[in-house]
Amino acid sequence: MSQARTATFDGIRTPHLSLRELMPHDTTALHRVLGDEVAMAAYEHGFSPAETADWIEGQVRRYRDRGFGLWALTDAETGEVIGDCGLTIQRVGAAEVVEVGYHLLRERWGHGYATEAASACVDWGFAHLDAPAIYAIVRDTNLASMNVAIRLGMTVRERFIKRYRDIDMPHLAFAITREGWRSRHPSP
Ligand SMILES: CC(C)(COP(=O)(O)OP(=O)(O)OC[C@H]1O[C@@H](n2cnc3c(N)ncnc32)[C@H](O)[C@@H]1OP(=O)(O)O)[C@@H](O)C(=O)NCCC(=O)NCCS
Repeated sequence: MSQARTATFDGIRTPHLSLRELMPHDTTALHRVLGDEVAMAAYEHGFSPAETADWIEGQVRRYRDRGFGLWALTDAETGEVIGDCGLTIQRVGAAEVVEVGYHLLRERWGHGYATEAASACVDWGFAHLDAPAIYAIVRDTNLASMNVAIRLGMTVRERFIKRYRDIDMPHLAFAITREGWRSRHPSP
């Protein structure tokens, strides 16, 4: 894919949060998020510990292959892992796109943390990748996630079906263009 050249990630800091690469030793902490069947309702199941470990392994492969992936989302003050957030390459129809993804510990919902983290990741993406737009791909039942995409300034571009665990799941592809992002975040 030409629009996402390999990049180097050396962490992101926001007012409340810090992002760093996930490591195998984060499995137990991240499993509090990915193993929570309420948080994972859009996936129709909470992950098993082995699936969480595989998820982290997948991100480590992405860091190696492209320089980015979903990162560990931590409380900037305490270092506690409270989720993941970052950028991956996903398919929307025939196109490969850069997507921002986020999963947050349930007890941390409702404070603006997902939007704060995702916004910093979109900033990073436009600064380090050639992508003309950044997407958020959301199951059509996942209202909280759609609201994050909307808070980022994204609009709906496409509706498509994703087949996951033998279930056809309608998804919406939200996106914001590089120009759209720049107009919302003019450089000083
Ligand atoms: C999707 C998800 C990350 C959204 O988390 P969230 O906490 O609702 O999202 P935000 O961080 O943007 O927080 C916004 C909420 O915080 C509130 N808030 C409180 N203080 C705030 C502040 N300083 N700034 C912004 N929002 C604030 C907002 O009013 C909003 O609440 P509302 O939706 O009740 O109006 C979370 O529901 C989640 O982890 N879900 C499970 C995983 C998942 O589905 N991921 C997406 C897959 S596509």
